[in-house]
Amino acid sequence: MSIVVTGASGHLGRLIVTKLLAAGADPATVIAGARRPETADDLGVTTVELDYTRPETLAKAFAGVDTVMLVSSSAIGERAQQHKAVIDAAVEAGVARIVYTSASHADTSDLIIIPEHRVTEEALRASGLTWTILRNNWYTENYVGSVQGAQATGVLLGAAGAGKVASAPRADYAEGAAAVLLGEGHDGKVYELSGDHAWDYPELAAAIGEVIGREVVYRDLSTEEYIAALVAAGVPEGGAQFAAGADAGIKAGLLADATADLRTLIGRPTTRLVEALRAALV
Ligand SMILES: NC(=O)c1ccc[n+]([C@@H]2O[C@H](COP(=O)([O-])OP(=O)(O)OC[C@H]3O[C@@H](n4cnc5c(N)ncnc54)[C@H](OP(=O)(O)O)[C@@H]3O)[C@@H](O)[C@H]2O)c1
Repeated sequence: MSIVVTGASGHLGRLIVTKLLAAGADPATVIAGARRPETADDLGVTTVELDYTRPETLAKAFAGVDTVMLVSSSAIGERAQQHKAVIDAAVEAGVARIVYTSASHADTSDLIIIPEHRVTEEALRASGLTWTILRNNWYTENYVGSVQGAQATGVLLGAAGAGKVASAPRADYAEGAAAVLLGEGHDGKVYELSGDHAWDYPELAAAIGEVIGREVVYRDLSTEEYIAALVAAGVPEGGAQFAAGADAGIKAGLLADATADLRTLIGRPTTRLVEALRAALV
């Protein structure tokens, strides 16, 4: 049984390969796919060129492969098309199964990043392939920049109000993905993967304070104020809009669903916020 992991040069893809090996997968059955295969050379498995925008690389990478682990692309705005190309190539190559990293409640959520995931989920359902959808909540690592900011100012800025986030570190999601890839009974399943506990930004500020050893307070801003503060701190306008849009979704409760799906897949509690932040800063 061979598994090709896409985006294997990225943070999550690398971790999925590592977790597959840690869970006992035969290295000969795991293939790391990346635009520049040499960036995945250190993973200790076969690498293959795999570029979502170059169908010829997809056809080659999927020939004779049983399972495609499609790690969603980082090319925001182009992802739906890129993922469709992967799904089409998987069908064409006769791949048996595809596992996709989606986002929380992609079928109903209004979160800023959702539309491309929703389109991809629909394409998977229409493809005729056997699929499993891993709807990942936020990565705890998304807040590493906030830790760095708070280190300098003692303040965590945001626009999420009392909204909660059921985050988990990438390593936990990767372990969940490995469990699905190596296990049975996951065909046609949609998992809402999250941390065990949903925290709010005052709790995040306290956790950051614990990690950096100084008091950190949360200052809640309006969306407009938050965008202005980020731009003033040097964040490009588009990035600031994106961050504020994400916080608006958090304020509306769109990332608050703490489910048991991830802890069930990995067979242990998910990593606590403080520990995950600490690990992300190493
Ligand atoms: N849940 C969350 O909080 C959250 C946060 C951020 C992102 N995400 C999503 O989760 C995905 C994985 O996260 P991550 O942290 O591992 O992101 P990442 O480190 O930025 O990795 C993204 C991967 O996508 C690859 N990629 C981009 N365009 C490609 C193309 N045309 N062909 C093939 N590969 C391409 C990159 O390859 P190169 O190395 O060649 O650039 C990289 O391997 C992201 O891409 C995004 O969809 C989720």
